[in-house]
Amino acid sequence: MKYDFNKKVNRSNTSCIKWDYLNAFFGKNDLNAMWVADMDFKAPPEILKPIQKRAAHGVFGYTAKPDEFYSAVISWFKRRYDWDIEKDWIVTTPGVVPALNLTMQEFTKAGDGIIIQPPVYFPFKDSVKLNERILLDNTLVLRDGHYEVDWEDMEKKAESAEMFLFCSPHNPVSRVWTAEELERLGNICERHDLLVFSDEIHADIIFKPHKHIPTAKISNNLANRTIAAYATSKTFNLAGLQLSLNIIPNENIRERFKLTLERLHLCMSNIFGIVGTQAAYDYGEQWLDELLPYLRQNCLTVRNFLNENIPEITVIEPEGTFLLWLDCRNLGLDDEKLAAFFVQKAGLALTNGIMFGPGGSGFMRMNIGCPERNLIKGLKSLKKAMADDSPILAGSGPVNAPDDC
Ligand SMILES: Cc1ncc(COP(=O)(O)O)c(C=O)c1O
Repeated sequence: MKYDFNKKVNRSNTSCIKWDYLNAFFGKNDLNAMWVADMDFKAPPEILKPIQKRAAHGVFGYTAKPDEFYSAVISWFKRRYDWDIEKDWIVTTPGVVPALNLTMQEFTKAGDGIIIQPPVYFPFKDSVKLNERILLDNTLVLRDGHYEVDWEDMEKKAESAEMFLFCSPHNPVSRVWTAEELERLGNICERHDLLVFSDEIHADIIFKPHKHIPTAKISNNLANRTIAAYATSKTFNLAGLQLSLNIIPNENIRERFKLTLERLHLCMSNIFGIVGTQAAYDYGEQWLDELLPYLRQNCLTVRNFLNENIPEITVIEPEGTFLLWLDCRNLGLDDEKLAAFFVQKAGLALTNGIMFGPGGSGFMRMNIGCPERNLIKGLKSLKKAMADDSPILAGSGPVNAPDDC
């Protein structure tokens, strides 16, 4: 192993939301933070060095994206997803959530139906509501420990929808959708002429034998109706650099998307986002290939620990992402008490399942993107909390959640 993921990095006093804003969101500082979806690892030196070199230059004027930026992206997409994309298809934004909001605003109108598949990354539903569109929940079905699409319901919801807001791989249920599932979803979108915003930000964090298949690769028809959102932010822990990539094969959709960006004068990117993204795709591969088994091992550590010590909580078998979906329904607590149990008794800051919408009640999302030692520490406090039979103080759970976790 070239990289050491066991090394603890102290993130305190860096203004990071995950560790420095615990009190604001959970009403308490002294918690083990396993919530916001970034990792506690340093980005690889292959990314840090070019960023440091650029910082040392000292002049940070308006900066374009060089050809090498685009070739790094194109080459990564070919190597990692076997997807041939063209330079023109790539449009950058300062994040995936801004891109999905922009898409909704430009291509749909107030009162239009937007399908999402809860329990899902909660800014999806927030965006639909904030933009005054109609939320159409195609709630995922949990069958024998595995999440599936409710196909009949999807077909029905598609009749009154304009757009499908898709999460692939899926946060938080950790599904990596198969070609068959993508084809079936694609057929529904085609039959009902839906625009697809496919959030593929977790595409690189996939556990073997699963494989990420870009939605737009499934068929020409899907490619022609899809805006696919990618980034290095989850993969290489660069979320603060605020650069995401929208892959838009359809020229009409792309031009409208770009025009909207121009109207807001959002065409340029942060210098460090450009340098970091390019370096990640050019030189970050080995780091990622070592990270994936480390994360997989973290998943197994949680699963084995819970099996042996807290069988009331089960892990939904993860297929991708560094977010574990814990089924806590057998604890017999309502959502308020469940949240309070984790915060007050276990000293753990996780994300409450209920925040992800229908199907999230009784679940918790645990971020395992951290050194194994911290994970084990958290699991031990959970075990101790289980043995503590003092009453849970309801109302002492998380107060709020920032938009981007
Ligand atoms: C599915 C999904 N989409 C988007 C984001 C955030 O993207 P960005 O920070 O680029 O807006 C997250 C972060 O957790 C996520 O899990």
